[in-house]
Amino acid sequence: MKNPKTYNWVMKSLHWGMAVAFVGMYVVAYIMEGMPKSPEKYQLYGLHKAVGLTLLALVLVRFAYRAIHGVPAISQNLSPLWKLAAMLGHYALYAVMFLMPLTGYLMGSKNISYFGLFEVPVLSHTLGGFFHESHVVLSYLIYALVGVHVIMALVHHFILKDATLVRMAPGMKTRA
Ligand code: HEM
Ligand code: HEM
Repeated sequence: MKNPKTYNWVMKSLHWGMAVAFVGMYVVAYIMEGMPKSPEKYQLYGLHKAVGLTLLALVLVRFAYRAIHGVPAISQNLSPLWKLAAMLGHYALYAVMFLMPLTGYLMGSKNISYFGLFEVPVLSHTLGGFFHESHVVLSYLIYALVGVHVIMALVHHFILKDATLVRMAPGMKTRA
């Protein structure tokens, strides 16, 4: 794999765009679940599902783009073991970013309207309960993974004082 020196605008846009979208998905999920039965509640469910399916497609595009264009090497300040942990951490984030919308999709028992444009057919009828449980468990796992991820980004910036955070920051061009 090639190792560019910094994240380019495509990777930065995908990183920050998807990070904001994930936060939005949580907010919408908690609001919609807490609402009394009403047309607005089901509109929010529809929005959560359609945006979630978009994120499912985007994570595949992002992972493919990363495989083709490469990503900057993990900071040279880290020992081999910490480098491995950082790499595994990134793969774990990609795994949950894929599994979260996938389990959401598979838990449903009705076709999904994609923003009213077309119908996405339901795939699983029998394992809905299992995928529902998985969707909830994954939502907690994401808190833990993203929590560690953000702490590590701050450790790089303020304690190790390397370019890790800066090279993912919008508008910054930097050496690795
Ligand atoms: C990045 C994608 C997604 C994120 C971050 C996300 C996040 C969440 C969260 C945090 C909850 C609340 C869990 C709880 O009850 O504690 C939830 C519920 C739910 N999600 Fe998602 N979701 C995503 C994608 C999807 C997709 C693609 C679908 C369906 C196509 C979906 C369908 C649902 C449904 C139906 C519920 C409500 C379940 C219930 O009423 O108990 N989600 N989601
Ligand atoms: C304030 C919040 C966040 C900060 C400060 C942050 C910071 C960073 C930084 C600095 C990197 C580059 C790491 C390196 O160069 O080795 C990175 C990569 C990454 N971040 Fe975040 N991040 C945040 C939120 C998120 C969220 C919410 C997600 C997932 C939902 C996420 C997923 C990822 C992934 C998968 C990578 C690896 C990119 C790659 O090399 O392909 N980040 N993040």
